Amino acid sequence: MIIHPELLPGNLYAARPWWKNAVLYQVYPRSFQDTNGDGIGDLEGIIRRLDYLAGLGVDIVWISPIYRSPQADNGYDISDYRDIDPLFGDLEAFDALVSRAHDLGMRIVMDLVVNHTSIEHPWFVESASSACSARRDWYYWRDPRPGFTPGAPGAEPTNWESFFGGPAWEYDASTGQYYLHLFARAQPDLNWENPQVRDAVYEMMNWWLDRGVDGFRVDAIDVISKQPGLPDGGPARPPFGIGHECFADGPRLHEFLQEMHERTFAHHPGSFTVGEASNASPETALLFCDPKRREFNMLIQFEHVNLGLENGKFSPRHLAPGELTDVLTRWQDTLGTRGWNALYLENHDQPRSVSRFGDPSRYWYESATALATAYFLQRGTPFIYQGQEIGMLGGDFKTAADFRDVESMSYMERLGADEVPEGLATMSRDNGRTPMQWDSSPAAGFSETVPWIDVPASAEQINVAAQADDPQSILTYYRALISARHVIPALTDGTFTRIDASVPALFVYRRSAPGSDVLVMVNMSGEHHTPLFSSGDEAMASLPWRLYLGNTDTSFVKTDDAFDHIQSEPTVTTPMRPWEARVYLLTD
Ligand code: NOJ
Ligand code: CA
Repeated sequence: MIIHPELLPGNLYAARPWWKNAVLYQVYPRSFQDTNGDGIGDLEGIIRRLDYLAGLGVDIVWISPIYRSPQADNGYDISDYRDIDPLFGDLEAFDALVSRAHDLGMRIVMDLVVNHTSIEHPWFVESASSACSARRDWYYWRDPRPGFTPGAPGAEPTNWESFFGGPAWEYDASTGQYYLHLFARAQPDLNWENPQVRDAVYEMMNWWLDRGVDGFRVDAIDVISKQPGLPDGGPARPPFGIGHECFADGPRLHEFLQEMHERTFAHHPGSFTVGEASNASPETALLFCDPKRREFNMLIQFEHVNLGLENGKFSPRHLAPGELTDVLTRWQDTLGTRGWNALYLENHDQPRSVSRFGDPSRYWYESATALATAYFLQRGTPFIYQGQEIGMLGGDFKTAADFRDVESMSYMERLGADEVPEGLATMSRDNGRTPMQWDSSPAAGFSETVPWIDVPASAEQINVAAQADDPQSILTYYRALISARHVIPALTDGTFTRIDASVPALFVYRRSAPGSDVLVMVNMSGEHHTPLFSSGDEAMASLPWRLYLGNTDTSFVKTDDAFDHIQSEPTVTTPMRPWEARVYLLTD
């Protein structure tokens, strides 16, 4: 690794709004740090690790759900929106966490899950209690399809499939109706058409914002408005199931989101908001994040992580070099200077990025840092998922019993076999949920006991302790990227321009603002490639670019390889090694 911190501006860039030069870190509380020996991460554990996050340079910590929950979907099934689940701690511990984070200059963002609740939420319990309950209409209850035996296959009110596979409807024999659940059976969908539901949600959001929370990551928000009349869906569009077009981007979605903004965020200026939208295209994303529309600051989209899943989520195909970056480029170009991107490669629903998009066996360090460089310096707010900053790999899933995720377990159940299909082993959400690897001890420093989900064997080599003081580590490289984001004006406000380097695997882009310029070059493949700039870009290439950061070491010589005899720092036209990444600055 090559780094020249002396090239960076000395002062923090004062971004407006503040989150434009912020770096977000996602904590999956279950797997971050256990402190009471039950094998499950907790709030006390997050508090203990806040110094680590501050040291990394993190500005915003998004914490996946910690509300009271029966944990059918690891907390994305909430039974009390105004309490902390005893698994994680209590409200007092939460307040202590927020206050410590604020002392360290970091903000805390909660996950807001309001498309659905848990079946154990008192609203649902009341709604289910009788067909004429006062809260019946808070959820979607429908009669069985005429002509079918209630509860038998085919009697579901529509043909919609849940995101986790199988029908999106569950029969309730006691009232003779079905309720809708776009996710697991234990996650009934709230009826957003009902103004009382919306009032209750906004009131709860304000309760947290008043308590000191700095914003929300809003779960599955593009499916809250369903097509009136709940029609049957057409053919499935993998990786989504049947009916997706009947509930994604529904007719009242933006009306609801503008109302939400008006009733909550507008009264808490400066709060941070990111929506999660599985269906968004760059064009529709602007509807959510154009500031004039007063909805969200930014959007978590899925197009790049859903690449190659045309045959289904658990049948991924190989991606060609350049495929990932072409999609990201389209998002950059379309959102332009009007919208704002949430930049990410990983989260608790995705496999580890080095395993999915890189080459962990031959080029673990190189591909982890190359992928980081490729996404982190684009226009938008970069998100880091816990463990990504040390190049964590996925889990070792050999039998059905190794899975904990409701989606993977239901898939294995439907399959009826014990042998784990390769596509599930590589794509299961559990890949992103293994314990944070702090050190090389048996439970990776995550817990003193057996963790709720196995620690991958790779933890012995890949852990924070091994990388913290290593000047050549992935962790050190991430720190260098974060520092750059905080001080370089072009990385916040600059335009994004993709530059053609003649090879699809070479991802080259320039960020430009008045007086501030960055050129990013990444080889997204395991082959050597020589950048060739077109005549229109020759002048750009001959500017006095100076290398701030690179993931190769000039003293590293591999004799079987002609390109590796380079002994000086690479210029913009130097041939690129496998997964090589470089960040150049124009300085006066
Ligand atoms: C998206 C969340 O990220 C995921 O983990 C969850 O299962 C679904 N929404 C349902 O809440
Ligand atoms: Ca614990």
